[in-house]
Amino acid sequence: MERLQKVIARAGIASRRKAEELIKEGRVKVNGIIVTELGVKVTSSDRIEVNEIPIEREESVYFLLYKPRGVISSVSDDKGRKVVTDFFVGLKERIFPVGRLDYDTSGLLLLTNDGEFANLLMHPSSEIEKVYVAKVKGVPLKEKLKKLEKGVRLEDGKTAPARIKMLSFDKKKQTAIIEISIHEGRNRQVRRMFEAIGHEVLKLKRERYGFLTLSGLKAGEARELTPHEVKQLRAAAMETKKNQKR
Ligand code: URA
Repeated sequence: MERLQKVIARAGIASRRKAEELIKEGRVKVNGIIVTELGVKVTSSDRIEVNEIPIEREESVYFLLYKPRGVISSVSDDKGRKVVTDFFVGLKERIFPVGRLDYDTSGLLLLTNDGEFANLLMHPSSEIEKVYVAKVKGVPLKEKLKKLEKGVRLEDGKTAPARIKMLSFDKKKQTAIIEISIHEGRNRQVRRMFEAIGHEVLKLKRERYGFLTLSGLKAGEARELTPHEVKQLRAAAMETKKNQKR
């Protein structure tokens, strides 16, 4: 069961708010009967018409993509660069990325056509743990990594505590591989955090999103999430939201 306005919005007829207006104006029929209430829920077998025209229903779909570097986290690009939806040619549902990874960042990215699900995951209060592996210039001292763990001051405020693990370093080449786990999702956050302690990020990959990993996928490959994984993600996002209210 889904809200009527959500189904109309997902069919690409109008935004959620516009869909609500259409309903209130008496321009929407469910199984031949005009509905003007906003709370009405419909199933996939209900026939919905807007302005007497039946809508094409779109099922919710959820994908996990191993985004390669050099791809924009968007559905189109005015400069003609490769975008993440190019990996889903032939898919009839209009999916979009849940949040974004930078052009030069590779790794785990979710895509869906379910706006409510995307908003839930991206909402600051329901931020799920994301694990990145960064190759940085220089070998950061322990004290500097401690700073990252505690939170560093960026131009948009101090970062929340992070988990940091030095995976390896190369003294000769003056580089280090560091795992960093964060719950926030600010723009270019990991790169800016390392910049704040004086170490430029040379390479960045998102390895984990909550309990999801890239296991079994190569760069450029995607798989559909199982219904159970979708439920688990929703539950995890709701759980952190609840905890933060306490
Ligand atoms: N942090 C970054 O700096 N870049 C990303 O793509 C994701 C997190």
